[in-house]
Amino acid sequence: MDLFDKCVDRTKTWSIKWDPDYMIERFGTADLLPFNHAEMDFECPQPIIDAIQQRSNHGIYGYTLVKPDYYDAIIQWYQIRHNIKFSREEILYSTGVIFSLLNVIQYFTNVGDEILIFTPIYRPLAEAVTDQARKLIMVPLSLEDRTYRMDLDQIESVLQTHSIKLIILCNPHNPVGRVWTRTELQGLGDLCLNHNVLIVSDEIHCDLVSKGHPYTSIAAISPELDSKTIVLSSMTKTFNTSGLKIANIFIKNPEIRVPFFHFFDKKFIYAPNIFGILGMQAAYNHCAPWVDLLTKYLDDNFRFVQDYITEHEMNIDLIPREGTPVIWLDFRNVPLAPNKVFQYLIKNAHIIPYDGRDFTANGEGFQRLSIGYPRKILKEGLNRIRKALQQL
Ligand SMILES: Cc1ncc(COP(=O)(O)O)c(C=O)c1O
Repeated sequence: MDLFDKCVDRTKTWSIKWDPDYMIERFGTADLLPFNHAEMDFECPQPIIDAIQQRSNHGIYGYTLVKPDYYDAIIQWYQIRHNIKFSREEILYSTGVIFSLLNVIQYFTNVGDEILIFTPIYRPLAEAVTDQARKLIMVPLSLEDRTYRMDLDQIESVLQTHSIKLIILCNPHNPVGRVWTRTELQGLGDLCLNHNVLIVSDEIHCDLVSKGHPYTSIAAISPELDSKTIVLSSMTKTFNTSGLKIANIFIKNPEIRVPFFHFFDKKFIYAPNIFGILGMQAAYNHCAPWVDLLTKYLDDNFRFVQDYITEHEMNIDLIPREGTPVIWLDFRNVPLAPNKVFQYLIKNAHIIPYDGRDFTANGEGFQRLSIGYPRKILKEGLNRIRKALQQL
């Protein structure tokens, strides 16, 4: 049996997506398979569990120092795994990527400023803009030949006609699963340099890339572009440890880094969650082989879905996935109004997808599903969807 085939009951563990009471409150029933969160159902690797258990046995969980070992683990991970060099002073810990983004927006822009984002996009990234009274300028990703692309001409024209202060990038992109290539990032980076615009890149899914689609960080394009970039990332998606609430902010340019880190320091997040610190160190120091196995399993899961849809001649289309633990399914050929698909799947397939319409804009007709599941559960989900669509 594959390591990732193991099914673990999460119903009584305060898991948001599996909690029966929460499911009833939101969807009226607890009889649902939840595929809605960008989260996996795999146990995290043993070194993380060991590190947490060992520390929890101590029994005192007081304020905690972030020691150099913490930064060294990150530096080594990025250097060996992604060929990016960071130094200690360029990294700052945080409690989450969205919390970091909220602060980046707060510090680098003013109320009313225009911020550009590519849609469809994971909603909290867009809400970080609108909730703070900045103006969201949406540029749709274009879909051609089942591939989403950034339209550089359109971006340039927006930069010429607006006064954009910040671009929010998501790489790999949630929900469409693109891993932006070096050429695409260079094109976007050139525009940022020409128009003097900062770019903040959410790279939380960077380790979960498919074979043949290597991740390139926006921080690995050129020293010139480094002057304009902020990277937000975390180990939490990679190792399925979102409950540990730990993330990192990377800024190479000292002119923006020093004042921002000073500002961020005042948010009083010093002495972070001890289990997040130790979990992250164990992950980055000891768990690279586990990630290799995981990414292969996710690739196999993607192929499983692809084969299933073909074999059963389902009239949904699967957008090729390059990264992230989610897939993006095109339901536009299903004989249902796009605004009815989500509820139909809840009621008739007894699964919970993530409605494409909730990805800010440009997602109508699509549903997002997590594939971070033992294949048996994934298959059960697909069986349920197939049977429900057959009733139409
Ligand atoms: C692209 C992206 N960014 C950020 C987050 C949330 O990150 P955090 O829990 O560190 O705030 C998610 C969670 O699904 C995500 O998909």
